[in-house]
Amino acid sequence: QPPDGGPAPTEGLVVVSNREPYSHSYDGDEITVERPVGGLTAGLDPVMQRASGTWVAWGDGEADREVVDEDDRVRVPPEDPSYTLRRIWLDDDEVEEYYYGYSNQVLWPLCHSDRGRITYEPRFWKRYRDVNRRFAEAASEEADSGSLIWFQDYHFGLAPEMVRRDRGEEVTLAHFWHIPWPTWDDFRVCPQSEQLLEGLLANDLLGFHVDRFCAQFLEGVDACFDDAVIDWDAGVVHRGDTPTLVESFPMGVDADRIQRLADSGEAEAFWDSFRDERGIDADAIVAVGVDRLDYTKGIPERLRAIEYFLDSYPEFRGEFVYVQKASESRSEIPAYREIQREVAETAERVNDRFGTDEWKPVVNVTEMLPATALYSLYRHADLALVSSVRDGMNLVAEEYVASQLENEGALVLSDFAGVDDTLGDYAYTINPYATEEFAETIHQTITDSPTERRNRMRQMRQLVAAYDLDAWMDDIFETVAELRAESADSG
Ligand code: G6P
Repeated sequence: QPPDGGPAPTEGLVVVSNREPYSHSYDGDEITVERPVGGLTAGLDPVMQRASGTWVAWGDGEADREVVDEDDRVRVPPEDPSYTLRRIWLDDDEVEEYYYGYSNQVLWPLCHSDRGRITYEPRFWKRYRDVNRRFAEAASEEADSGSLIWFQDYHFGLAPEMVRRDRGEEVTLAHFWHIPWPTWDDFRVCPQSEQLLEGLLANDLLGFHVDRFCAQFLEGVDACFDDAVIDWDAGVVHRGDTPTLVESFPMGVDADRIQRLADSGEAEAFWDSFRDERGIDADAIVAVGVDRLDYTKGIPERLRAIEYFLDSYPEFRGEFVYVQKASESRSEIPAYREIQREVAETAERVNDRFGTDEWKPVVNVTEMLPATALYSLYRHADLALVSSVRDGMNLVAEEYVASQLENEGALVLSDFAGVDDTLGDYAYTINPYATEEFAETIHQTITDSPTERRNRMRQMRQLVAAYDLDAWMDDIFETVAELRAESADSG
């Protein structure tokens, strides 16, 4: 067991992700390092430090190239170098076609079951394959015999098979798919559905957040390949040389850290000055929404429910404030510019309709918030609105719960977010499209007794603390260890 009680490091670990854990930029002539602030990169970083493995990622920082050696490697973290970051440089065409193209205009909408937003071009696919090959070759080079290579997400649907061809059974391959897996009827619209399934079936372990995505993946494999033998109870696909275990691991957050930061003096100071600056009364009912500006997050649906709520319950005008922190994302893509426009227009409409000189129902936060500020906002918000129309997991919901030190807030949560499988019994569950019920639920969270809200929040906090980010990784690494032991026995 490592000294600080985190997940046990895995010998020779190689992580492959599109985003890099450290990025370098210029501050005048000086090079500064930006560190992971949250999510997977922040959580994996200490594991990598203990495992002293290698992380392969797209080098996207403006000064990234300045700090690498001739093999494109840099040791990180800078103050205590303990693992290797291997950068892959992408040129403009690669970024356009692999990242904005196939990853985010084909696979992203496809896996979120949004056929209408798929833009397919043959050049996207070719480039996706080529970039997957570049990452696969780098991962292969970094891996020793016996290494675990752990792929992250939909950017690398083909790389596992490429590595397997090169290294055979001497490496263990695991993949975590962080976004939903759709039904076969949705997935088969993809012109490369078969190649992608084959690419993923080269893994020893394939993880999703929830059981439903595992089942939909297995059903797709069953429908696509006549020669696949599926052990439905065990979740194992037998096809070719490598059996693939398909299992759910609902991801968690670093609950201890979030709680600590939410409880800091800095967090308290932020809240006071934030309320002051935005003219939010001390006794206002504050709802919070934090998202990347993505069409899967149900932001216009949320704003429509708020509008309906203020229409139906005029007594809350002047009292209820919705703080929206929506960060711009993937703006090269027309569908993202469109959602940005729609969100801005809808928020403006709500403010124009109900706002007064003293009060605005929707407060937009456009600046970057440091982690402490964000957790302070979560701690003090009376409710959080998570209204995804489709979401792999949604860790905002868990971060909100982890920050609720007083257990007084309420989580309004879409049935269509993966995290509803974890928290749905105690959250106030909604269908984001059902505007009247959504508005009713907002009203219910406010009018329910404090005891009811506290009971629900206590239960959720226990769940979030018990299955945190470390537990998630532990679970995955233990499963890999079991698979290795089994294959050693049978070999
Ligand atoms: C989702 C994906 C991640 C991705 C993140 C941010 O959570 O599952 O893989 O990194 O969105 O999107 P971006 O395109 O900016 O990396």
